[in-house]
Amino acid sequence: MRIIAIANQKGGCGKTTTAINLAAALSKNGRRVLLIDLDPQAHASLGLNIDSQDSMYNVISSLTPRKLRIENIIRRVEESFDMVPSNVLVGTLEQELADEIGRELKLTGIIATIASRYDYILIDCAPSLGILTVNALRASSEVIIPVETSRFSIQGLEHIIDIIHLVRDRLNHPIEYRVLIAMFDSRLRHSFAMLQMFKDRFSQLLFDTIIHTNVKLRESVVLGQTVAAYDKYSRGSKDYFTLAKEVLCAEAKEGPMVTAVPKEARWGRAAGLTFSETMRETIEQEAKDVQKLASVRFSCKAQDAKSVFVTGSFNDWALDDNCRLKQLNGCWEVVLPLKPGIYQYQFIIDGVWKEDPLNPRKERNSFGDINSLIEVGTDG
Ligand SMILES: Nc1ncnc2c1ncn2[C@@H]1O[C@H](COP(=O)(O)OP(=O)(O)O)[C@@H](O)[C@H]1O
Ligand SMILES: [Mg+2]
Repeated sequence: MRIIAIANQKGGCGKTTTAINLAAALSKNGRRVLLIDLDPQAHASLGLNIDSQDSMYNVISSLTPRKLRIENIIRRVEESFDMVPSNVLVGTLEQELADEIGRELKLTGIIATIASRYDYILIDCAPSLGILTVNALRASSEVIIPVETSRFSIQGLEHIIDIIHLVRDRLNHPIEYRVLIAMFDSRLRHSFAMLQMFKDRFSQLLFDTIIHTNVKLRESVVLGQTVAAYDKYSRGSKDYFTLAKEVLCAEAKEGPMVTAVPKEARWGRAAGLTFSETMRETIEQEAKDVQKLASVRFSCKAQDAKSVFVTGSFNDWALDDNCRLKQLNGCWEVVLPLKPGIYQYQFIIDGVWKEDPLNPRKERNSFGDINSLIEVGTDG
């Protein structure tokens, strides 16, 4: 029996799509599969058309008036494919568990009660590195980390890899991981350059299978179906079958799907602390930081530009409407709420990445170009 968490704190990188379609493909290969939706956004449940009042909240919480056992909430998706649905209440567990002793072991204990019924248990994690994700990692022996081939997904990957190392070494829990390219757009030359970068960096930790971008994957989720049920001859369906074969291959070796995790973990300030101390510190710090959000104004002169964005380590280098600057007399600006900390950032002026010319604080990044630096003080 194998328990595999699908995790990455970045949203929109293909976790849920992978969880749903890998689970379906494994069950089509004759395996008994349980998919646990551990994301309060319940995308996996919605993506399989399962709308439930009950979720892991009823199983884990000690405050709920409707306490249930996991077998009470398991729903059948297809033959030999079951799921534990999620709902928004699952999000409240982060807070409820914050002070509980042994909180990172809750899921492990619950899964143990039903593990013998399945060959595979997949856990679709929320896009965060909170207690629920740590529970998922602690309950799993393997992790699949889906990534898109974007320039900064490598930086995001380092966070989750640090947490996996923490769980493995501090909690003495054997856990292996592998990275899956989950949205590969073969029409873009950039994608191939990125793929090479992932290969150089992660080599044997990368799945051979690549999931290409395929509109059928997007459409099937909206219709509440697996891609195999929606269009089994689509590229998306074929890719996930290939991935399932690669995952199944490791069964023959009677070991986990992956080679050993490299040793070069960077512990940062976690060094020397026990895991629960580190978690507590992080959570307490988070709570304080929310109260200390500062309004930071980013501005940039670009007279003839058509669009200007700012992106950086404060938003995991995401590029969305929140970080689009507005123009006022040739000067572009946006005000963003940021926690105290030191952040790297760049402007993107008509698609071209640029350091901030007005900011003397800079740092060279791992791609060899320059990021600007901003420090937000604790006084806001
Ligand atoms: N390979 C793919 N091709 C096209 N669209 C995809 C692909 N993988 C995921 N998507 C779409 O991208 C969005 C985010 O994917 P999702 O799996 O929900 O990510 P996550 O769970 O990491 O937030 C969804 O709309 C999904 O349908
Ligand atoms: Mg998701």
